[in-house]
Amino acid sequence: MSLRDRADLAVPRAPQDFPDSPLSRAFRQPLMLGVFLPLQTGGWSQSTLPRGTDWTFDYNLELTRRAEALGFDIAFGLSQWLPKGGFGGASHYRENFLDPFVSAVALSSATRSILLLGTIHALYGPWHPLHLAKFLATADHVSGGRFGANIVTGYADMEPAMFGLTRPEHDRRYAMADEFVAVAEDLWAGEDNLTFEGEHWSLREAYVSPRPAFGRPVLVSAGGSPAGFAFAGRHSDIVFISSPAGEDITDALAALPAHVRAVKDAARAQGREVRVVINPTVVSRPTSAEAHAYYRAIQAHADLESIAAFQSRHAAGDSRSWLEHSARGRAVGGHLHVVGSPEEVTGQLAALHATGIDGVQLTFYDYLPDLGHFGEEILPLLEQAGLRLPVPPDGGPHAAPVAAATRAPRGGGAS
Ligand SMILES: Cc1cc2nc3c(=O)[nH]c(=O)nc-3n(C[C@H](O)[C@H](O)[C@H](O)COP(=O)(O)O)c2cc1C
Repeated sequence: MSLRDRADLAVPRAPQDFPDSPLSRAFRQPLMLGVFLPLQTGGWSQSTLPRGTDWTFDYNLELTRRAEALGFDIAFGLSQWLPKGGFGGASHYRENFLDPFVSAVALSSATRSILLLGTIHALYGPWHPLHLAKFLATADHVSGGRFGANIVTGYADMEPAMFGLTRPEHDRRYAMADEFVAVAEDLWAGEDNLTFEGEHWSLREAYVSPRPAFGRPVLVSAGGSPAGFAFAGRHSDIVFISSPAGEDITDALAALPAHVRAVKDAARAQGREVRVVINPTVVSRPTSAEAHAYYRAIQAHADLESIAAFQSRHAAGDSRSWLEHSARGRAVGGHLHVVGSPEEVTGQLAALHATGIDGVQLTFYDYLPDLGHFGEEILPLLEQAGLRLPVPPDGGPHAAPVAAATRAPRGGGAS
């Protein structure tokens, strides 16, 4: 039993190093498209304007399948831990909240090409890197290499308290998460049993098999601070950012080039490449006037009580993200607002791409009809603009990696 130290931990190959991995296929799209699943009551919009958006698994399954049929690359779930009633208000905002990790694994077995990303709070526990390595290797096999974990460290003060913990200081959380993920990466690399005495976690003769199909599961992180970017640069394939200038598209477009460059430079400093994804809420109708009328109606029904609860939770947190977002904008939600006719939305998404953004993780107010409008009216324009490669009838570059799902495990089979 030999003890390894941090510098000896092995790093597996990344899914993007395999040309046939689902992640590599997604990366071939000029602008990746994701749907941000409303696994929680109210999705992202704190408004009472009537709509069909629903947090239930069946609704999210239908949404994921429709997004997949449109050629979307990603379906993504956020994670929050909330007390009874969520953020309350007339909309009961986020009162019900399906766990995104469990949901993503379940959704993966009912789909065949879309990447499923679920958010995981690595530091709430006791929750050991060996759990993460084993659970994610299993999710990787269930999904045929389509599962990814958005590893977050938790910025809210009330969440660690639910676990009987005190929130560690901001940058220290990233240092803890760094060791956590480095250990999991060694287990996915699977070179040998791992015996390790870290600052935060220890293992004796630990091993994970079967190993992931493409080196390791897809890794994602989300943040806006230098420590968050450094963590992402070391481990992530995709970095999920917010607008550093709030939800207004003009302000966001001015601020994003420097912000996106900072994320990518942090990875390049470590000899790695990351893709950057942001979350616009798309409010679109056949004409600009209709889209802006819909936008105003959502805002006119703002659920002010739940917005106040949301804002005070954020004020008690220590995130360096979302600092410029307004309370009023929460009625529509998302990191920035993309509003207009199909042509205007296409222009705004093209402008986002020009800032260096590699993908958009979309939220909608009324998900199923709004996604349908996006597919019928906006997607063809994105293809014409060269931002999307069309999906051939056989699934083409989006087809399921069946071979990967059934591939024999490397490094020896499970006992
Ligand atoms: C786009 C984006 C998405 C995020 N999603 C989550 C989430 O689902 N759950 C969570 O607890 N934190 C989430 N976070 C918070 C970050 O993971 C991080 O804890 C927080 O932003 C503090 O780090 P920072 O100062 O580097 O931004 C998200 C942050 C961003 C920017």
